Amino acid sequence: MNILAIESSCDETAAAVVRDGRTVLSNCVSSQIEMHTIYGGVVPEIASRKHVEAVTGLADQALSQAGLTQSQLDALAVTYAPGLIGAVLVGVNFAKGAALALDLPLIPVHHVRGHIAANYLTHPDLEPPFVCLCVSGGTTAIVDVRSYTEMEVLGSTRDDAAGECFDKVARVLGIGYPGGAPMDRLSDGGNDNRYELPRAHVAGHDLDMSFSGLKTASLNLIHNTQQKGEALDLPSFAASFGRAVSESLVPRVMEAARQKGYGQVAVAGGVAANRRIRADLQMACAHSGDRLYLPELKYCGDNAAMIGCQGYYEYLAGRRAGLELNAYATRSIALG
Ligand code: KG4
Repeated sequence: MNILAIESSCDETAAAVVRDGRTVLSNCVSSQIEMHTIYGGVVPEIASRKHVEAVTGLADQALSQAGLTQSQLDALAVTYAPGLIGAVLVGVNFAKGAALALDLPLIPVHHVRGHIAANYLTHPDLEPPFVCLCVSGGTTAIVDVRSYTEMEVLGSTRDDAAGECFDKVARVLGIGYPGGAPMDRLSDGGNDNRYELPRAHVAGHDLDMSFSGLKTASLNLIHNTQQKGEALDLPSFAASFGRAVSESLVPRVMEAARQKGYGQVAVAGGVAANRRIRADLQMACAHSGDRLYLPELKYCGDNAAMIGCQGYYEYLAGRRAGLELNAYATRSIALG
């Protein structure tokens, strides 16, 4: 089954063709980061307009790189939520139009489920159940992945997402947008003990997290250092910050893994590229005996291959449940 997948929920327009869920025939991404860098963050209206400019050409490119014609497609899949609503609607409307014109089923895919599915693309042997740490610019959650389509959020951030925290601190340091990767690189050679930064606990909810305190403490530390005319040891600050984020995430996902007892842990989303978090997870899983699944870097950030992969499993589940999947049926979901 060949699925053409579209992703436009934030600042990347993406199109991909995925066969039977696990084989990526093409994976095209057009990033708008350069444009948003000028403003230090994503400007929703600009994002929507850039998606409009890119989506048609990118879908054509994905199809031709896959070596397929339109008549060889079996379905379309599209991210329907969450995301910037104007940006999401560009992809949804393109996919609805294409599904109508080609008379193909249209599969709505939740963006975070797509991020989780990125692990299936990297690890052909991975099958649910497993516990997944989902960490991106908009989401920070620990998810019980019981099957390809049955999932439960076991814990999540009460305020900022981990990626958002990276981005805001990096912006104040003036090291670029999005800030996670530059902060990661900056931490090279730094002393992760040099600066004391908080790790929050949500009383009574062991698997929930909070990053607003870490963000505020980091910004205060940067400003106080500047006001005193002192120099911030940037690598050590970035290393201390990365450690605080990792130590807020890793023990919780390991606790969730212990509670569920599946023996499998995965990580997903843009922040899953972070080297400190990856290393800490590797160490924790070596200690607990859980098998760890890390997505390839090209599938950590936003892409459409992960949407095509999850779309396949949503399609199979939808068929089993007798759901009608067509361009009209997704309307309430897309706008809801
Ligand atoms: O998954 P993603 O591309 O978009 C969302 O769905 O949100 O994630 C983007 C986030 C940004 O906050 C970015 O700073 C962060 O992922 N990120 C990182 C790293 N690479 C990207 N955060 C920490 N370390 C990294 N190496």
